[in-house]
Amino acid sequence: MRAYRLGLIGYPIQHSLSPWIHEQFLKRNGLTGSYELYEVAPESDFAQEVEKLKAMELDGWNITVPYKEKILPYLDEIDVSAKQIGAVNTVVRKNGRYIGYNTDGTGYVRSLLHHHPRLKENKSVEVLLLGAGGAAKGIYHALLASGFSNLTVANRTTEKATAIVNESTEVATLSEVEASLNQFRLIIQTTNVGMKPDINNTVISLKQLQPDAVVSDIVYQPLETKLLLEAKKAGAYTHYGHTMLLYQAQYAFEIWTGHLTDTTNMDTKLQAILEG
Ligand code: ATR
Repeated sequence: MRAYRLGLIGYPIQHSLSPWIHEQFLKRNGLTGSYELYEVAPESDFAQEVEKLKAMELDGWNITVPYKEKILPYLDEIDVSAKQIGAVNTVVRKNGRYIGYNTDGTGYVRSLLHHHPRLKENKSVEVLLLGAGGAAKGIYHALLASGFSNLTVANRTTEKATAIVNESTEVATLSEVEASLNQFRLIIQTTNVGMKPDINNTVISLKQLQPDAVVSDIVYQPLETKLLLEAKKAGAYTHYGHTMLLYQAQYAFEIWTGHLTDTTNMDTKLQAILEG
């Protein structure tokens, strides 16, 4: 049986959870292999480091900060998922060619639908996406691809929201959506607001939130942001940001090996690891 050789490139990556996740995935699929960390220091010659990595002929790499954009010119092909965002987090070596993907958006949607399966039958719900940065872009395209059709994007800088959407999507200001929040059944928070050390802030007020809505926050430091806490208090459903880590990895592993891994019990274990 072949042994998969997988790894992560980034800096700093010593505390990455990816080795744990992918070693679990290998085990769960009865596969052999390893997932190693290849820390590339910012002062190093990146082109040379990529050449060294290519010479090792790994089957698959993950790419993280600060190299998600920098890797683009070294790849032979860029999948649409990565083109849409302009950043790669997964590379697969196929017949000696290197193909770049971005699994963030699809991973996010998989996680959302896993935790809120009711949404699978309700893709025409009004969805509010808060933020228009890199993370929002990936999630926006993955939502459309999975069939969600009624999307509104609200951002502090509305021009940025306009720049990432197509004509079927509404663009609004944060204060507009705050006032009309009761029209949305799925609210996805992708900005940095609420992230450590900014833990006492929320990007919008949830005063008008409907209790049957799902509120999702991609911030996972802290695991429970103020926004999620307020959503819970209002009786709404919540979706936690750390759960997307698992599904981004699940999709990357599928690209490398063709195996779609069952993630049962991994969410709780991941949460325990993140909580230290
Ligand atoms: P990421 O890759 O994590 O999405 P990013 O591309 O820097 O990061 O995007 C950050 C997002 O958070 C943007 O939507 C940003 O709004 P602007 O486009 O107006 O800058 C949003 N954001 C960051 N700080 C914010 C704040 N204090 N209030 C509202 N939005 C904020």
